[in-house]
Amino acid sequence: MNNQWTVSKIKALKGKNKIICLTAADWLMARLLDEVGIHLILVGDSLAMTVLGYENTLPVTMEQMLHHTAAVARGVKNALVVADMPFLSYQTSEKDAIANAGQFIKKAGAGAVKIEGGSFRAPVIKALTRNGIPVLAHIGLTPQSIKTMGGYKVQGKTQKEAKELIKDARMLEKAGAFAIVLECMPPQTARKITKSVKIPTIGIGAGSVCAGEVLVVNDLIGLNVVPPPRFARPRADVASAIRAAAEEYLREVKGTAQH
Ligand code: KIV
Repeated sequence: MNNQWTVSKIKALKGKNKIICLTAADWLMARLLDEVGIHLILVGDSLAMTVLGYENTLPVTMEQMLHHTAAVARGVKNALVVADMPFLSYQTSEKDAIANAGQFIKKAGAGAVKIEGGSFRAPVIKALTRNGIPVLAHIGLTPQSIKTMGGYKVQGKTQKEAKELIKDARMLEKAGAFAIVLECMPPQTARKITKSVKIPTIGIGAGSVCAGEVLVVNDLIGLNVVPPPRFARPRADVASAIRAAAEEYLREVKGTAQH
């Protein structure tokens, strides 16, 4: 039986089963998540912070994202691998967007790409999907815009903002996005958006009202040196386990004689 999660199979889950998504940045993590049956693995540009030690997602490059996407794709048999397009890899022109997105599919083995932004991204999404590149849209808190948003703030709090997000979601669906990430917004807003479109919504910090949910894997497993966002409940404490193992090793080896 073919257990591979394609864009159309993911879309068909809406209204039936939750779409379960996590990020991954390397082969081993991707392999473990794939083995347990995660539907969609996002090579999120949050790896700029979680793996590469940058302050935000803005500095991560196409080369770095291609490198991590290829590693993830090597670890995955069934999940849909979605590559996050880094800052300025799709904003400059449709031609750049197609050329860069194409590399994720052609060279790195991704099944789709993710881009941030509302209705103003409809033309680029249309261009990508018409050229055979499936797109996961992303609205609400869009971290590549923190400089204009003035920080990581909850979006869609007022009725006017919520209406704007619904309009965005409808435009992105019309442009051909196969699903939309809704980041950091009140559940009421996420619910309204989810009801306003036929394609699935995938929430993060948006309650549990969307067709699917995504988390940064480091926040799920407690592999962080800073506290996770309030909405993320860690199910493990991997950072402490690593510290404890390294400390035990340090003590043991210190205690052995030199020959
Ligand atoms: O980069 C990322 O990890 C993301 C998720 C938060 C959706 O975009």
